[in-house]
Amino acid sequence: MADLRLTNVAKSYGDVDVLRDIDLTITSGEFIVFVGPSGCGKSTLLRMIAGLEQITGGTLEIDGQVMNDIPPSQRGIAMVFQSYALYPHMTVRDNMAFALKIAGQSKDQIRAATDRAGKMLQLTPYLDRLPKALSGGQRQRVAIGRAIVRDPKVYLFDEPLSNLDAALRVATRIEIAQLKASMPDRTMIYVTHDQTEAMTLADRIVVLAGGGIAQVGAPLELYERPVNEFVAQFIGSPAMNLLPGRVKATGPMTTVTLDGGLEAQVAIPTRPGDEGMEVNLGVRPEDMREDGGASVFEGTVDLTEALGEVTLLYFGTNAETAPIIAKLPGIHPGLNGRRVRLSADPQALHLFHKGQSLLYRDGADLPPYQPRMASPSGSMGSTPAFPDGGGDRIEDGVIKPVGPVR
Ligand SMILES: Nc1ncnc2c1ncn2[C@@H]1O[C@H](COP(=O)(O)OP(=O)(O)O)[C@@H](O)[C@H]1O
Ligand SMILES: [Mg+2]
Repeated sequence: MADLRLTNVAKSYGDVDVLRDIDLTITSGEFIVFVGPSGCGKSTLLRMIAGLEQITGGTLEIDGQVMNDIPPSQRGIAMVFQSYALYPHMTVRDNMAFALKIAGQSKDQIRAATDRAGKMLQLTPYLDRLPKALSGGQRQRVAIGRAIVRDPKVYLFDEPLSNLDAALRVATRIEIAQLKASMPDRTMIYVTHDQTEAMTLADRIVVLAGGGIAQVGAPLELYERPVNEFVAQFIGSPAMNLLPGRVKATGPMTTVTLDGGLEAQVAIPTRPGDEGMEVNLGVRPEDMREDGGASVFEGTVDLTEALGEVTLLYFGTNAETAPIIAKLPGIHPGLNGRRVRLSADPQALHLFHKGQSLLYRDGADLPPYQPRMASPSGSMGSTPAFPDGGGDRIEDGVIKPVGPVR
């Protein structure tokens, strides 16, 4: 059991404010991932939870107890660092045993704990080796083992895989997912800048930006219902395209006239009076199709990148604004220099006004999130509930999910 509650948590170094107004409730057993641009305060927030950094405003509670002034060793937390931070002159077993020795545990207890961690992390054959005789992935597992032997209620990971090469990252990511599954009541908070890690590991992702929380939600909820343009472009790769235009007709479906003259139908409701409103139409590269449907975008391909499973088309690479990018499934030779028209399902489009999603207006509650799913024919339709019931808890975020007009 370890519920964490952060209330108005803030951090400043002198008169430099790094974080402010962090309100977040984490339920026991959750896997929470912090993402955000470099320097936005992810490590700082993690270190404040660990007790390695003073909290300069607000409160941190664990299981109802205020932890602000409790030393790290008494918080029931263990942290795993990107740099591994192993003692080079100690064997794997001694590295894992160190904290237990300091805590005065008996030899038998220490042996049992290190045996167990070694088994969980497939390190048993390496327990007597020094770190220098291990691969990067094995060293990171030892660092995780040092956390496991203490059997903490809360695990904190700060970009634990970023020193590993691509193949090892995938393997270790899966190990971390399995480790979490083997400890369903342990809470994990994990910092990463890797989209795939965030999307695959998290029960909920916390997007940090500009010193605060931009949005909290289940991974697919952030992907399909970003609260603002920042989250829309931060989650998903390549980033969501934003096409400027104006509302032409309102109703349960909105018609947008895009700069350049094309018209798009969007399955986001608007109200009488919204006509003429300046908006950005958001369309993800992977939602653009070359199927002859009503175009949301037309342009000349400046560059293609053939990745095999998909082809990326770039438009306007010389413009001052970011290029428009489309991601078409499969291989499309000979599109360079060609003029193409691309359509998108109205259900897959997003609508922003002054940077904020029009789905979230006026404080009404959005219906619980349900992911769109590809139907067998490949088109998108609305579908059954999200398996873990996630998505109904965005109210933890600072930017309140404010409801739809629908
Ligand atoms: N000891 C410190 N003194 C002053 N500023 C700091 C200190 N530690 C971190 N910062 C600043 O706090 C901000 C957040 O840093 P950090 O939490 O490491 O970001 P992230 O992990 O998201 O990349 C950065 O702008 C960084 O320069
Ligand atoms: Mg960091």
